[in-house]
Amino acid sequence: MSTYTIDTATSRATPVPAPMKRLTAPAIMARKVGEPIVALTAYTMRMAQLLDPHWDVLLVGDSLGQLIYGLPSTIPVTMEMMCAHGAAVVRGSWHALVAVDMPFGSYEESPEQAFRSASHIMKQTGCAAVKLEGGEAMAPTIEFLAHRGIPVIGHVGLTPQAVNVLGGYGARGKSREEHKKILSDALAVTNAGAFCIVVEGVMEEIATDIARQSSAPIIGIGASAECDGQVLVTEDMLGMFERTPRFVKRYDDLAARIGEAAAAYAGEVRSRSFPTSDQTYRPKS
Ligand code: KIV
Repeated sequence: MSTYTIDTATSRATPVPAPMKRLTAPAIMARKVGEPIVALTAYTMRMAQLLDPHWDVLLVGDSLGQLIYGLPSTIPVTMEMMCAHGAAVVRGSWHALVAVDMPFGSYEESPEQAFRSASHIMKQTGCAAVKLEGGEAMAPTIEFLAHRGIPVIGHVGLTPQAVNVLGGYGARGKSREEHKKILSDALAVTNAGAFCIVVEGVMEEIATDIARQSSAPIIGIGASAECDGQVLVTEDMLGMFERTPRFVKRYDDLAARIGEAAAAYAGEVRSRSFPTSDQTYRPKS
């Protein structure tokens, strides 16, 4: 597997094999036709290193609020958190396009506020794109950013920052009216210039309609296999939690494996079978 060695003299990560050219927003946009876009979340340097060779888009999601900081929702997530984790993911990757979520309260007020926040995130992290939630209401903001050099990923359907308005995290689009609204949100975001759009937690038929009608690539999460790409929260697909939402497929059971490793370590410390002579320093004879 491709990974990195750290040069301890300079602390620089040297990728093995040599780095590829980083994917750009136009390259992702061109994937409307062709190979599906592979996206996952990443919040740390090491996870980025491990995922980077396999993924096209690394999303530094504001889901880090719950996953890293133990917050109850994404609402309390700050610009400082997004910038610190965004910079770590950029440092740990060479190939994927890194996109950073704009946190709640950093963009909704006006296009100008959004520009200030997005440019700050890009300067602080080195990321190549930002993601923001919202449909028709956010279209003028997306257009403002896109015309000023900021590649934007849209996010419609279930938008977790609106949990207090939506009343929960259930799938959206069960009624005809909601179906029409989510579709027109996605098309408004497309027309505003988003280079791709995350469609989250909607009835499959809506995501399929959006994927067919939007000229921007659609990245689904709890959406449809007809989307132009898929994204999952990495910790969910690795099985870091006992409960996984219906739309997640678990590719590992890391929670159980970490528990086993921790129990083995604890047992060896208590029985004094760790450390052995292999893990202790002695003068060279
Ligand atoms: O915050 C996040 O992780 C996300 C993805 C799940 C799409 O927005």
